[in-house]
Amino acid sequence: MEKEITIRKPSDMHLHLRQGDMLKTTVRDASAWFAQGVVMPNTVPAINTPERLISYRDEILSRNPGFKPIMSFKLYSGMSASEVKAMADAGAVLGKLYPAGVTTNSEDGVKSWLDIKETLGAMSDLNLVLSIHCEWPDTFVLDREYEYHREFAAIAKAFPDLRMVFEHISDRRSINFVAGLPDRVAGTITAHHLLLTLDDVIGANMNPHTFCKPVVKGPADREALRQAAFSGDKKFFFGSDSAPHLKAKKESEAAAGGIYSSPVAVPLMTQLFEEKGKLEKLENFMSVYGPAFYSIKPAESCITLVQKKSTIPAVIDGIVPLYAEKTVSWSIKA
Ligand code: DOR
Ligand code: ZN
Repeated sequence: MEKEITIRKPSDMHLHLRQGDMLKTTVRDASAWFAQGVVMPNTVPAINTPERLISYRDEILSRNPGFKPIMSFKLYSGMSASEVKAMADAGAVLGKLYPAGVTTNSEDGVKSWLDIKETLGAMSDLNLVLSIHCEWPDTFVLDREYEYHREFAAIAKAFPDLRMVFEHISDRRSINFVAGLPDRVAGTITAHHLLLTLDDVIGANMNPHTFCKPVVKGPADREALRQAAFSGDKKFFFGSDSAPHLKAKKESEAAAGGIYSSPVAVPLMTQLFEEKGKLEKLENFMSVYGPAFYSIKPAESCITLVQKKSTIPAVIDGIVPLYAEKTVSWSIKA
């Protein structure tokens, strides 16, 4: 008999769905595995007005009314308390802080938290979650996340009631950092940071399909991330940061950062947890701790995975997925 596991349908606490034609692909692939997802606002134009938030949510729902988008807005310098209130009224659950210039479509990001004091105060008052891409610009790329700790700590100190998420942790020093902060601070961990190291990016021929921000780091970092994911500590939960770019855009002289993992993340995580003897920790990490932190209901439905090999496609609608053409040992039960 094939080995099986049934878990509550996962929640992806960090997801890029993009716009236009790509939205059809991303919603289809995310909703196959996830009941809901925290939708990132770094579209063009950005989700930073109530009208855009509402029309983006409607567009997502029109693709699949069964998939629940958890909506965010993108913070900008000088965003006022009344603008924040309008976003909350439109249905935003979180605001995303992109430091200026650190990743895709962040050129208009925030230079210092001092420029968004009013914004953060309003978010705290309204009980919105602050989600942060934690990298300090213009420092050595492998230390950028660590260099952001000071800014993160300053925000946490200035707003003692604000819930904060340290997104896509990649550096072992950030695990200790987040663990040492109060319970209103949590961190997401991606599939790719749990599976890859820098060797997968530049160890052989340069591979743009494993290039993302923050860059995947060394074996000791990956191990610390795995221990956090397996620990049962409710501060650490899954957020894929699934971030598709068309193949041609990745295979270019200025390869965009981002890894498309939605179609494969759940079976890959099941495989990892099973191989490490931690299958009993999978459901909380994938499906429970994230919604709990956000005070959102976890999925009511379940999915069953069976230990049955399948091969990940080379390309999905023009996008190269994580682990393309490799074998994964778990599949969804038909
Ligand atoms: O690799 C990344 N891609 N990291 C991010 O933070 C953004 C994302 C994107 O939107 O492409
Ligand atoms: Zn992201």
